[in-house]
Amino acid sequence: MIPQEIIRRKRDGQELTGGEIAAFIEGLTRETVSEGQIAAFAMATFFRGMSRDEVIALTLAMRDSGDVLTWLDAGRPVVDKHSTGGVGDNVSLMLAPVVAACGLVVPMISGRGLGHTGGTLDKLQSIPGYDVMPGEAALRRVVGDVGCAIIGQTGDLAPADKRLYAIRDVTATVESVPLITASILSKKLAAGLESLVLDVKCGNGAFMASREDAEALARSLVDVANGAGVKTAALLTDMNEPLADAAGNAVEVANAVAFLRGEKAGTRLDEVTFALAAEMLVQAGKAPDRAAAEAQARRALESGAAADIFARMVHALGGPADFIERPTAYLAQAPVIRPVPAVASGFLAACETRDVGIAVLELGGGRKRPQDDIDHRVGFSDILPLGERVEKGVPFAFVHAADEAAAERALVRLQSAYTIAADAPASRPVILTRF
Ligand code: URA
Repeated sequence: MIPQEIIRRKRDGQELTGGEIAAFIEGLTRETVSEGQIAAFAMATFFRGMSRDEVIALTLAMRDSGDVLTWLDAGRPVVDKHSTGGVGDNVSLMLAPVVAACGLVVPMISGRGLGHTGGTLDKLQSIPGYDVMPGEAALRRVVGDVGCAIIGQTGDLAPADKRLYAIRDVTATVESVPLITASILSKKLAAGLESLVLDVKCGNGAFMASREDAEALARSLVDVANGAGVKTAALLTDMNEPLADAAGNAVEVANAVAFLRGEKAGTRLDEVTFALAAEMLVQAGKAPDRAAAEAQARRALESGAAADIFARMVHALGGPADFIERPTAYLAQAPVIRPVPAVASGFLAACETRDVGIAVLELGGGRKRPQDDIDHRVGFSDILPLGERVEKGVPFAFVHAADEAAAERALVRLQSAYTIAADAPASRPVILTRF
């Protein structure tokens, strides 16, 4: 069927067949379908939605648009985690080595920052020499030797998503549950996983701010991934404040190293990381239940095994051999580091988390256009969590900036992102529910 007929049927609210979807995605990949036709298809899908069968067909067609990795020789469960994106979300940096230390194989294909959210690849590029695009052979070698490798999408994995995503990005069609589902899962399925855990973020720093929308996305992702043959669970987690106490690139890597050294116990970041690790270990059959799995994951951290795997992964991908022992010797520091004083005394009661992400972006830590370079040195560190008591004039965070003027703008932005109240806010769980 010609593309415009497929678009017309979707526009009119009809259910597309698997054959029609496969034909459209094949044309999209081979570039016989025009950009205008792809934009029209995305907009029709945005308004009309898709049935579960259609989303599965779209996901599989996008997965099959390029290479699909197989790990027949791994001998261990091949797993991954995906987050829908947030601020101060550096979980991948710790989670991959923690579960690899427990015997799982983690070929983690990660992305760059999107909108106000940070990206794992941008964070890793703060480490001198770390190659985020080493290609498939290096991915296999590092995963085989170390147990995990965090790298970028190679040109041949789900190329249909690359083209479709770029067009969605500029046609206001990103926020569509079927299109997000197929985009995320096509890349994950192309990596040849046996099981997957999803961290679906919910709150004012997430793409899905409302609980209802986040739950709809979580259900769709779990349903379609299981329907496509990958054992998948999702945690819905809170994104109403930065997850780590840092937001930026090098600062989040420094935070991850501190975590791997056992210096972040008892934080919300710790809770999310180990809850996801437990899901991964149970799904892979490495532990009988979540409590046993979490204990196993915590032992991997406490013994230093996870830190060792992180260090070996960094070195195997081109970074310094002693990075974990001397991170500050390697992570570039911003020339200006200033305290951010609280504007009043009271309790940190609420955070406009998206504004914190935008402040990082404006400092130069994210991109305004896809081709922009980023400044890995900038961001915020030592951010106190909501619920903490603060005193007027005493710092509740530090800003890392390229110059004084940028530091001043970001400082004001961070101050206005936080509400300080006379009473302590009610405590909020970080893990909201599980699918
Ligand atoms: N991340 C993706 O990979 N795709 C989307 O559509 C949204 C977030």
